[in-house]
Amino acid sequence: MNDKLIEIEITDLAYDGKAVGHKDGKVVFLKGGLPGETVLAEIIKSKPRYDMAIVKEITQKSHFRVPTVCSHFTYCGGCTWQDLDYAAQLMFKKKQVIDCVERIGGLPDIKIFDVIGSQEIFGYRNKMEFSFNVDTKEGFTLGLHHRGSFRDIFNLEKCYLTPDITSEIVRWMQSFVKEENIPVYDVKNHTGYMRFLMIRQAKNTSDLMVNVVTNYGEFPVKEKLIKNITQAFPSLTTIVHNQNGQKSNIAVGEKETILWGPGFIEERLFDTVFRIRTNSFFQTNSLQAETLYQTGFEMLNPQENDHVLDLYCGTGTIGILLAPKVKEVIGVELVADAVKAAQENASLNKISNISFYEGHVKDFLKDKNSAQDYFNVVIVDPPRAGLHPKALKQLLILKPEKILYISCNPATFARDAQKIVAEGYRLPEIKPVDMFPHTMHIELVSVFHRL
Ligand SMILES: C[S@@+](CC[C@H](N)C(=O)[O-])C[C@H]1O[C@@H](n2cnc3c(N)ncnc32)[C@H](O)[C@@H]1O
Repeated sequence: MNDKLIEIEITDLAYDGKAVGHKDGKVVFLKGGLPGETVLAEIIKSKPRYDMAIVKEITQKSHFRVPTVCSHFTYCGGCTWQDLDYAAQLMFKKKQVIDCVERIGGLPDIKIFDVIGSQEIFGYRNKMEFSFNVDTKEGFTLGLHHRGSFRDIFNLEKCYLTPDITSEIVRWMQSFVKEENIPVYDVKNHTGYMRFLMIRQAKNTSDLMVNVVTNYGEFPVKEKLIKNITQAFPSLTTIVHNQNGQKSNIAVGEKETILWGPGFIEERLFDTVFRIRTNSFFQTNSLQAETLYQTGFEMLNPQENDHVLDLYCGTGTIGILLAPKVKEVIGVELVADAVKAAQENASLNKISNISFYEGHVKDFLKDKNSAQDYFNVVIVDPPRAGLHPKALKQLLILKPEKILYISCNPATFARDAQKIVAEGYRLPEIKPVDMFPHTMHIELVSVFHRL
């Protein structure tokens, strides 16, 4: 045995997906390995309170370990838990929620249900962004990020989290860009043209969008791209070109041109149709989005006289689905494009008792300070950072009867829940919903009741 390697028994999984073990009374976070496994690992960083290690060899396998399906699994930053049995993934996600609520929130007596598993565990994503980068060996690559790397992109063969056609389009684009010799963006020097390829396919309608994000400038072989790609993929419904000259590595365009088709796709949730454009937020797992919202609505039990605030409303999905059951909904959202999409979707579905405010939640709530007792139901679905302290303070001034809190981060949820409960609310139960199989992410749904 290499004397630099140490033997460790893995007992748990941390929130960032790393394995957890102990050596000489100290916590060790490991890359690789699953609970129930004994491994030989190399310590790569030693801190006073914990060590970081890389698993070099598994000497005893966990009964949770399952064969992986993806050839990119060992280096792709996508699904780090693919080798963990799905039932065990759900068990560890539930444990993560319990830990946060008890340890961070200091709230030990809340009923936390088993995680509602995803109806599909592969091919569930309706959207994926792939990156281009120059590559000294291959000329360029188009695919996903190497685990833990901001710049390194590997050439994608197949991604199992998306429908098969997504990977087929990526492979087609790799060949097209190579044959046409289109310059690829160099992430280091910020030169070149092709930056991202975003593919969106609606689960319930099969609408299919290709969005090519480039540096500024006319697309060099635009007509040829449209002709060849629509021939190769007859199920494509629209092609969009976005131009982005910013150095930051995000697949959002500053200038959009619709190359072919309507420029949007439509997705159906329950009986409601949502128009999704390139830069609009929409839940990436459509089937589980229905489960998430349905769970929230059942826990909320909306009434026809409710005045509802839908804070952090994105493209208005929750408010639009809820509006027919209540008196009135106001959605609040920071991103202008999302507000436009929300308005478009409300009129598409002939919902007239909903309106939208574009801006920060905290500013909206500050203005509504005097409207105490008017909004009896508030829905919050914030980003991972949770509620801004000022937003939370203003929200509690409104004294709503019920707060439906949908969270994608149990740690920030637990922090906010502690404050809400301290202000006179009861939190009887939490229902976690898995939207992202094979990753450590977990969403949860809860309703706070004013005492
Ligand atoms: C997790 S998404 C929820 C979207 C929506 N509820 C849904 O289910 O599709 C969070 C949304 O909050 C918005 N957002 C982030 N910070 C915000 C703020 N300070 N004020 C208003 N909206 C914000 C984001 O743009 C994003 O659309």
